[in-house]
Amino acid sequence: MIMAPKLRKLMLIVHLVVSIGWIGAVAAYLVLDLTATTNDDPATLRAAYMSMGLITWRAIVPLAVATLATGLVMSLGTKWGLIRHYWAIISLVLTVLAIAVLLSETRTIDRYAALAEDPSTPDGALRALGGTLPHSVGGLFVLLVVTVLNVYKPRGVTPYGWRKQQGERRLGEETR
Ligand code: HEM
Repeated sequence: MIMAPKLRKLMLIVHLVVSIGWIGAVAAYLVLDLTATTNDDPATLRAAYMSMGLITWRAIVPLAVATLATGLVMSLGTKWGLIRHYWAIISLVLTVLAIAVLLSETRTIDRYAALAEDPSTPDGALRALGGTLPHSVGGLFVLLVVTVLNVYKPRGVTPYGWRKQQGERRLGEETR
């Protein structure tokens, strides 16, 4: 069902706020991750790992889920459709993959945050954790790729999208 223009604008605003917000939250996480990877001071390491846990559960995960949900609404409620254009399919696949990797990574993030919170964890053990840089850098890169894809919306219609377009064109001619 195609959304009315006013509703579409409103939903687009929500989609933009949560999806770009997701990128902002990952950028904040990356700053803490860099601090955890390059710092030796135990108090700084504890603060960084505990904050990484908080940002993950309070910001990154909710924004990621909201991005997927609003992205589905924007696809299904507009002419773009979910499987009519290759750019929309690639956005969906990359977003789902990013969320799957994020959710599996939360186990490591939770473990690091619990160790940082525990006063009996030796300083040496904290220094040995080594952060999660490959995930935060990789995740940020994937999100930027999806942003570029969704703004440029490169041409490329799937066979299903082509058949739908033909059907709509025929219907338009018949009702003229
Ligand atoms: C990291 C994830 C995402 C980011 C950063 C993102 C970002 C954006 C941006 C910046 C736009 C505005 C483009 C424009 O109108 O010029 C947009 C539009 C759109 N996005 Fe996303 N998006 C994400 C995920 C998704 C997903 C997973 C889907 C589909 C399942 C999706 C579907 C759409 C659609 C259909 C539009 C066009 C809306 C319209 O023209 O009314 N997005 N997105």
